[in-house]
Amino acid sequence: MYDFRIDAADKAEMYRDLGEALEALVAGEPDGVANMANAAALIWETLPDLNWAGFYRNVGGELVLGPFQGRPACIRIAFGQGVCGAAAASLQVQRVDDVHAFEGHITCDAASVSELVVPIVGADGELIAVLDLDSPIAARFDAEDEAGCVALGAILARVL
Ligand code: SME
Repeated sequence: MYDFRIDAADKAEMYRDLGEALEALVAGEPDGVANMANAAALIWETLPDLNWAGFYRNVGGELVLGPFQGRPACIRIAFGQGVCGAAAASLQVQRVDDVHAFEGHITCDAASVSELVVPIVGADGELIAVLDLDSPIAARFDAEDEAGCVALGAILARVL
C-alpha cells in the first residue's frame, strides 16, 4: 500500500513533500503509463480544489488523452488548440486564471474555471506530454503552484 498523505504547513513544503512522494512512486519503474497514472492520482489526492488532473501525451504531433483523475475528457487536441495545445506548441507553461477569457479554450468540463498546463520535455528537447490541472475556482494557481508543478514535470520527464 502506498500511503502518501501530505500534511504540509505551507505550499512550498507541500510541493517539496509531493516531489519526494512522486520520486518514490516512480523510482525504478520504466512504464510511462503507470508513472503518469500514479502521478495523476497523487496530485489529485494532494492538491485541493481540482476538478481534473492528468496528462495528454504527444503521439505523433497530436495530444492524446493519457492517465487522469476527474471526468471523462476530450481525447485528441491539436497542437496550438486550447490551453493544452498552446503549452504543447510553445513548450511554455500556461497558467490561466479564467479559461473563459482564453481564446480557443476547449471545454471538457463546464466546471473548469482556471487551468495550469506544464509541458514535459525530454532530454532531446521534444515534448513528451503535458500535465494539465483544472480547477473550478478562478485564479486557483499562483506562481508557487506553477513552480511546484514544473518541478513535478522535471521528475516525470526522466521516467516517461
Ligand atoms: N481545457 C483544456 C482541455 C483539456 S481538459 O480541461 C481536460 C484546454 O483548453 O486545453
